[in-house]
Amino acid sequence: MTELIISNLAASVEDKKILKDVSITIRGGEIHALMGPNGAGKSTLGNVLIGHPNYVINGGSILLDGVDITHKTPEERARAGLFLAFQSPVSIPGVKLSSFLRSAYNQLHPNEKLTISQFYDKLKTHMKNVGLDESFISRSVNDGFSGGERKRIEILQMVMLRPKIVILDEIDSGLDVDALKLVASEIKDYYSEQVGFLIITHYQRILKSIDPQFVHVLMDGVVVKNGDRNLALRIEDEGYDWIRA
Ligand SMILES: Nc1ncnc2c1ncn2[C@@H]1O[C@H](COP(=O)(O)OP(=O)(O)OP(=O)(O)O)[C@@H](O)[C@H]1O
Ligand SMILES: [Mg+2]
Repeated sequence: MTELIISNLAASVEDKKILKDVSITIRGGEIHALMGPNGAGKSTLGNVLIGHPNYVINGGSILLDGVDITHKTPEERARAGLFLAFQSPVSIPGVKLSSFLRSAYNQLHPNEKLTISQFYDKLKTHMKNVGLDESFISRSVNDGFSGGERKRIEILQMVMLRPKIVILDEIDSGLDVDALKLVASEIKDYYSEQVGFLIITHYQRILKSIDPQFVHVLMDGVVVKNGDRNLALRIEDEGYDWIRA
């Protein structure tokens, strides 16, 4: 069974301590929301989990399905089933979306033999699901894409690459109302007992359609509160002052 165990994780960037104490366990079939004020370290946690090279781990551990991945390379973590949809996806000029996805797919699923036409059929189906025109297939990854298009591309990557642990960093920001519905529905379609989700968000809006069983609050690099969906509702109403106090 899928199980990501983050224990007492601490991490820094450029000698600045950002994460101080983060412990969260995510199992297959579970949806967790991570909330917290701007600058709390939420995106840092996502980056540290996927092994972004700018971050140094100062303590604690990350276990995926019993394997310690704390010091594994980003490629090894991706192969183990970790995926992060970035808060601000970068563009890769000169690399076509189709080539990018096909090469990532082949690296992550070397034993699956999808023919080119099967791959494209799958790709086109999911592009339609997230409301992206087929012409995006031959464009460079995110090059000149709008904010909302970039977010849809992140979800397209998720469904195409089929990770076991999905971290969505503010996937709801920048999406118009209709796009948010499409994206939420694609996420729900992908949801299964085999997949665990960590949804980083500021708002209740996305959690209305993707209902989290667990909500965590990160403040100044520390998980200061854990609860259920009612915690997210209370934050929407009252902000974070009551937790700070
Ligand atoms: N390379 C860096 N150098 C210095 N400080 C950094 C660096 N990267 C991140 N930080 C700092 O780490 C803190 C946490 O940033 P992070 O992006 O994780 O916050 P966040 O919780 O995702 O906030 P938001 O809700 O605004 O997205 C911020 O104060 C940020 O300025
Ligand atoms: Mg962030």
